[in-house]
Amino acid sequence: MHYETTLKKFQNKDATIAIVGLGYVGIPLAEVITQKGFKTIGVDIDPVKVDMLNQGRSYLHHIEDDRIQDMLATKRFEASENLEKVAQCDAVIICVPTPLGRHHEPVLSFIENAGEEIYPFICKGQLIVLESSSFPGTTTEILKPILEKSGLIADKDFFLAFSPEREDPGNQSFSTSNIPKIIGGDTPETQELVKALYSQFIQQVIPVDSTKVAEAAKLLENIYRAVNISLINELKIIFDPMDIDIWKVIDAAKTKPFGFMPFYPGPGIGGHCIPLDPYYLTWKSQENDMPTRLINIAGEINERMPHYVLKKTGEALDKHAQKGLNGSKILIVGVAYKKNIDDYRESPALKIADLLHKRGARLSYFDPLISELPNSPQCGVLADHKSIEASAEHFEAYDAILITVDHDTVDYQQIADHAHLIVDTRNVTANCSDSDCIIVKA
Ligand SMILES: NC(=O)c1ccc[n+]([C@@H]2O[C@H](COP(=O)([O-])OP(=O)(O)OC[C@H]3O[C@@H](n4cnc5c(N)ncnc54)[C@H](O)[C@@H]3O)[C@@H](O)[C@H]2O)c1
Repeated sequence: MHYETTLKKFQNKDATIAIVGLGYVGIPLAEVITQKGFKTIGVDIDPVKVDMLNQGRSYLHHIEDDRIQDMLATKRFEASENLEKVAQCDAVIICVPTPLGRHHEPVLSFIENAGEEIYPFICKGQLIVLESSSFPGTTTEILKPILEKSGLIADKDFFLAFSPEREDPGNQSFSTSNIPKIIGGDTPETQELVKALYSQFIQQVIPVDSTKVAEAAKLLENIYRAVNISLINELKIIFDPMDIDIWKVIDAAKTKPFGFMPFYPGPGIGGHCIPLDPYYLTWKSQENDMPTRLINIAGEINERMPHYVLKKTGEALDKHAQKGLNGSKILIVGVAYKKNIDDYRESPALKIADLLHKRGARLSYFDPLISELPNSPQCGVLADHKSIEASAEHFEAYDAILITVDHDTVDYQQIADHAHLIVDTRNVTANCSDSDCIIVKA
């Protein structure tokens, strides 16, 4: 009875949806759901974010204020700190963080806390979907027992699903509604319900027959990236003393129309997903005494990349500026973890900054998308620093300019025209012309 009512509400867009966690994933999700006609309540424990959103302001650079204002203008969206509002909702979608601890162990406290806060308000017929990336079994082994403290039974009284998030902030071609979405439920009824909801705002949904398959698919996607990036990073290091430019090698190899997909080297991996998610599987598979050898080696290679960039920067200064790292003025271009976004979580640039600082370098940074870094431990030695402005005098003032991110809005020709020495980890200077600057790829 409750099931039928919820199903009809989803089909008629007559349902109210709670999004728990209004971050990089939660905000765009709330946006598409609201725009498709559902009433949406975004719940977050951070009062600053809630206030900003209710005032029509975005706290994420790649999401403009207009988009939040458009959501509010529908009168179908509100942000709230109050988890009790979950009781008014027909579906609850959880998008809270899943970081790693200091020893590469999963930190599930955000999921657990969300579950603890939600369970007193669960109602019969509700659909609860976890979207946070985690190891297979998180939905049924971690979240389900907490939610069942309500006295209601999962997949009988309420319905519990997992749908991995594939959001790619800054991607101009793909956004929430046109990224195909995997939806996993452990019973046909749950699968039917989650499909009825998600197909209202996602163009292509891909049902799978269990939450574990959906959880494992997300890890496969990110492990695949982590392993292939590590391979290309290793090949870069191997080819360098052979005087072979990895970027030219990739350009040649990718002309093969089948069986090859290009991955690109860099100064290390960052963000909330690729450096973290593989270790969720590593941790979980210990239960079965199964070592994840390739995953571990890939992680090791990627984590050593900032050290490689440090070494190359020191050698470049030594060879081309007759200076050591100690005392040299170095400008880091790009502190985001990847191009065209303002997210610096796990950014390799910040790790490189710490390594350079330990060697006595005097550091500044330039990032048009991150005008200042907060005073937080995550920002390391660049905490509380402000980005310099792009100008000829500024670029001339450094012994070396280290390019760690390839933002489209940076004028690399201007940098090459005024810098003395560039260490380029992203191949952005490949097309710079007529410059006296020495360019070293790293
Ligand atoms: N950022 C991405 O591009 C991306 C892509 C794919 C998957 N993911 C996964 O999606 C999940 C969310 O990532 P994100 O980048 O959106 O994180 P985020 O840190 O940007 O946002 C999470 C939000 O959840 C809030 N929160 C934490 N605990 C809460 C609670 N108990 N109740 C309500 N709100 C709570 C935080 O205040 C924060 O605003 C993670 O598992 C991540 O791995 C992220």
